[in-house]
Amino acid sequence: MTQPAQPSLAATPLRPFGAEVTDIDLRSLADAGFTAIHRAWIDHQVLLFRDQGLTDADLVSFSRRFGPLDHAPVQENGQRVVAGMPEIYVVSNVIENGVAIGSLGAGEAVWHTDMSYLSAPPKASMLFALEVPLAGGDTSFCDMYAAFDRLPPALRQRIVGLRVKHDGTYNSGGYVRQGVTPTDDPRQAPGTLHPLVCTHPESGRRMLYLGRRRMAWIEGMDLPASEALLDEIWAQATMPAITFTHHWHVGDLVLWDNRCTMHRRDPFDASARRVMHRTQIKGTAPPAF
Ligand code: SIN
Repeated sequence: MTQPAQPSLAATPLRPFGAEVTDIDLRSLADAGFTAIHRAWIDHQVLLFRDQGLTDADLVSFSRRFGPLDHAPVQENGQRVVAGMPEIYVVSNVIENGVAIGSLGAGEAVWHTDMSYLSAPPKASMLFALEVPLAGGDTSFCDMYAAFDRLPPALRQRIVGLRVKHDGTYNSGGYVRQGVTPTDDPRQAPGTLHPLVCTHPESGRRMLYLGRRRMAWIEGMDLPASEALLDEIWAQATMPAITFTHHWHVGDLVLWDNRCTMHRRDPFDASARRVMHRTQIKGTAPPAF
């Protein structure tokens, strides 16, 4: 029997992980092309598409092909800012008429997985560049399969089966989320416990699942012991050998698997403009061992 042809995709691997997909217009993607992108996203964890001329509606429509979208969290200014598009979160330092048009400012955004304080965090995020500074504001990604594989065997054995609290107090820019009263005790803070070591539901591979360092706590441990163990794990998890950095150009779209990567952003000159629009695809199940 003739097998259906495998849809092909021009995907060039990035180092040490991720891939750049070329010769593609995300506005006019046939089903076979989307199937190939989905496969590449699972295989490479992060995909870069350059020179995309997307409107907000195009961005939402491409994002929806992966599944239902989360409504964006309320921005730091207390609003959702793209009229009629609650799925779009604006990441920006721009102030217009005295009001921030987006979130995260111009400072560093620390290593994190998006919205892992939820019981079923988004499975994917994508960020589309509308305006970028000449220097700074680069985004780095970390491979959490490799982070697990590279752990010293004794440490790996020690943490399998443990759960870590993913804090819901602060966003990655260090701003307090809407409606939350901060506390210094991670055990009291809002958030969700997830296994430290999870199995990816689509690839079947094991990965470290850390969320973010600030206000994390390992269930059942006293705080000093939890802090010491988390420091030991984090020192291994974000080594340069398992991360890559993307320098943005207008029209770049980066799609990442939010289950098996973390990301962070460099600070940039606050007088420069950076405007990015982000969507997130709903998670279908809590992260599981
Ligand atoms: C984010 O942390 O989700 C935003 C990353 C960025 O601004 O590059």
